[in-house]
Amino acid sequence: MHSHQEDLCTAQPSAIGENLEKKIRDRSARAGVIGLGYVGLSLALEMAKEGFQVTGIDIDRQKVDSVNAGISYILDVSSEDLLSLVTKGGIKATQALAAVENLDTLSICVPTPLRKTKDPDLSFVIAAVEAVRNHLRPGQLIIVESTTYPGTTRELVLPILEESGLQVGKDFFLAYSPERLDPGNKAYTTRKIPKVIGGITPRCTELAAILYQQFVERIVPVSSPESAEMVKLLENTFRSVNIALANEMALMCHKLGINVWEVIEAAETKPFGFLPFYPGPGLGGHCIPVDPYYLTWRARMNGFEPRLIELAGQINTQMPAFTISRIADALNQRQKSVKGSRILALGVTYKRDTTDIRESPAIEILRGLHQKGANLCYSDPYIPSLQLDGKLVKSVDFTLAVLESMDCVVVLTDHSAFNYAMVAAHSPLIIDTRNALRSFSSPHIIRL
Ligand SMILES: NC(=O)c1ccc[n+]([C@@H]2O[C@H](COP(=O)([O-])OP(=O)(O)OC[C@H]3O[C@@H](n4cnc5c(N)ncnc54)[C@H](O)[C@@H]3O)[C@@H](O)[C@H]2O)c1
Repeated sequence: MHSHQEDLCTAQPSAIGENLEKKIRDRSARAGVIGLGYVGLSLALEMAKEGFQVTGIDIDRQKVDSVNAGISYILDVSSEDLLSLVTKGGIKATQALAAVENLDTLSICVPTPLRKTKDPDLSFVIAAVEAVRNHLRPGQLIIVESTTYPGTTRELVLPILEESGLQVGKDFFLAYSPERLDPGNKAYTTRKIPKVIGGITPRCTELAAILYQQFVERIVPVSSPESAEMVKLLENTFRSVNIALANEMALMCHKLGINVWEVIEAAETKPFGFLPFYPGPGLGGHCIPVDPYYLTWRARMNGFEPRLIELAGQINTQMPAFTISRIADALNQRQKSVKGSRILALGVTYKRDTTDIRESPAIEILRGLHQKGANLCYSDPYIPSLQLDGKLVKSVDFTLAVLESMDCVVVLTDHSAFNYAMVAAHSPLIIDTRNALRSFSSPHIIRL
C-alpha cells in the first residue's frame, strides 16, 4: 500500500483519469468482471466482443474452468461465442483475486441475496470489495452492478476502498450501474438495454459512462449512486406490485367465475394507460422476490414504513399455496385426493426458457404436493434433476405415455419446448398456471 501512496504524490490527479479514459477508448484498458454468473458472464462477453481483454474472476472453480474451456453454463451466452473469444485471448477466467491488480476496470457482479430474516445479505459484495481494496492501485475504475439498497456504494463500498489510502475521484473512480438483464429475452440483450450510471463524483460517472458506451447503445447518467441504486429498485418493485395486482385479480376472478386471462388480454388492447402483467404460481428468480425487501429494509432504517410494497409481497407469496389448493379442488371434483394421485409438473424454472430455478415457486408447489402425499414427477428440458426435501428427483421425458399415465398435469413454467397440443389432447386433467394452453378449450383444462 505504501508504494501506492508515494505514486500518488507524484502523479497528477487529472492525468490518472485521462490516462484511463485513453486506455478505455483505445481498448488497451484491461477489463475485469468479478462474479461470472448470469450478469457477469454476459457482461464479460459483450466487453470482449468489443475488443477488450477481459479477465473474469470467480470463486467458483467450476465456472472458471468452464469459461476457460469455452463452455457456457448460461443459456443466453452461446458456447460458440465464448469459445471463439477465449481462443482469441479476449476472455480468461481465474479464481485468483490478486488478478485485480493488473486490471483497469472492475465490474462487480456478485450475488445480493436476502438473509432468512429477509434483510439484505451483502456479504458477497463486501468480500469482493475487500479483495479489490487489497489490490487497489491508482487509475482503477470500480463499478458495482449488483442490485442493492440506496446508499450501498457510498456508505459501504467506498469506505472499504478508501482504507487503501487512495482517494475516490482522484486516484480511483467508483460508480454504481444497475444490471437490468432479462434472461431469455432475445430482443433486449446487454448491448440494447440502456445503462444507468451514477458515480461518487462527476468524473466517476463520466469514466464509467465512457467504458459502457463502448458496448452499450445508450447511457443514462444520473446525479448520484443513490439515484442509480434506487432506479433498479423502482423498476423491480414496479414489477412486483403490478404482478401482485394481476395475482389479486386472478384470486378475485376465481371467486367471481371470470377468466382473468381473457380480462387482461382484452384490457391490453387499450392503446394507452395500461400495461399488462400476468398472474402465475408465484414469484421467482433472483430479482423480483428479493429486491423490494432491500428497499423496504432501507426505508425502515430511515423511519419510513412502506405499505404497498409489503402488501404486494404478501399477495405474491400466497400464490404457490393458491395453486396447490386449485390442484386439490380439481382432483377432488374428480373423486380423487392429492394423496396418491399421479401429478406431473411441467416446468420448474421460475420463468420460461431459462435454466434458473432460484426462488422458483415450482419448488414450493412440488414440496407442498409431496407433503400431501402426491405421487409426483416433473419434466423440464433445462433441469435434468433437482433436490426435493433432501431427495434427488430426475426430470421425466415428456412423452405421450407419461402424459396419459397421470391423474393431473400442472403447467408451472410455460417453456416453449413443450408440445401443448399434446398436453391438451392426452392429459385427463390440466391445471394451467401460465395460460400456456390459451388456444385450447376443454373442460379438462383449468386455468389459474
Ligand atoms: N440474474 C439476473 O437476471 C439479474 C438481473 C439483474 C440484476 N441482477 C443482479 O446482479 C447480481 C448478480 O446476479 P447473478 O444472477 O449474475 O448471480 P449469480 O449467482 O449467477 O452469479 C454470481 C457469481 O458471483 C460469484 N461470486 C460470489 N462471491 C464472489 C466473490 N467474492 N468473488 C468473486 N466471485 C464471487 C459466484 O460464484 C457466482 O458465480 C445480483 O445482485 C442480482 O440481483 C441479476
